[in-house]
Amino acid sequence: MADILPKKDQNGQKERSSDEAKDEPKGLRVKPINNGTVIDHIAGGQALNVLKILGISGTTDATVSVVMNVESRKLGKKDIVKVEDRELFEEEVNRIALIAPAASINIIRDCKVIEKRTVDLPDEIVGVVRCQNPNCISNTLEPIKSRMLVKTKNPVLLRCLYCEQPLTDRIAEYLI
Ligand SMILES: Nc1ncnc2c1ncn2[C@@H]1O[C@H](COP(=O)(O)OP(=O)(O)OP(=O)(O)O)[C@@H](O)[C@H]1O
Ligand SMILES: [Mg+2]
Ligand SMILES: [Zn+2]
Repeated sequence: MADILPKKDQNGQKERSSDEAKDEPKGLRVKPINNGTVIDHIAGGQALNVLKILGISGTTDATVSVVMNVESRKLGKKDIVKVEDRELFEEEVNRIALIAPAASINIIRDCKVIEKRTVDLPDEIVGVVRCQNPNCISNTLEPIKSRMLVKTKNPVLLRCLYCEQPLTDRIAEYLI
């Protein structure tokens, strides 16, 4: 993954791509964080769902910056979430992939991006998303966990393994 490495110009300075320049004119929109996680390239309007997945609500004492609907060459409009002093669990990253399939997760240490990864969905998701069909066996009192097959990853299209009900919109509302 050579393209995740920062490009350097002759002076050893990191080149600012036009995407970056467009996304964050005149440098960062918010104060840089020393340590934490930047979730970038979230589809415009999905930032609050990302916060929900991270368990960050109105009563949080975490230091969080949210940027919504800024221009992005890749996505048209994108959201960004920056959480200080926190790195994400695999399960949180997998949930983010459900609502923000193009997201990149940047780990910040000492103010620098030390790791960048894209999100990815497994082929099957167990016990994470409820089936939309109220009569589905996974929605009864039977001790049966929901099982969703991932048909496409971007846009995300899920299909219930039991009743074949598709789920593609408003996935955030069906997270368990
Ligand atoms: N110390 C920091 N504090 C807060 N945000 C940061 C910090 N360092 C980087 N970021 C943000 O993290 C994201 C990734 O940073 P990076 O420098 O890799 O940008 P990039 O080259 O535009 O990445 P990409 O190719 O993924 O778009 C950007 O949104 C950037 O603004
Ligand atoms: Mg960028
Ligand atoms: Zn079902």
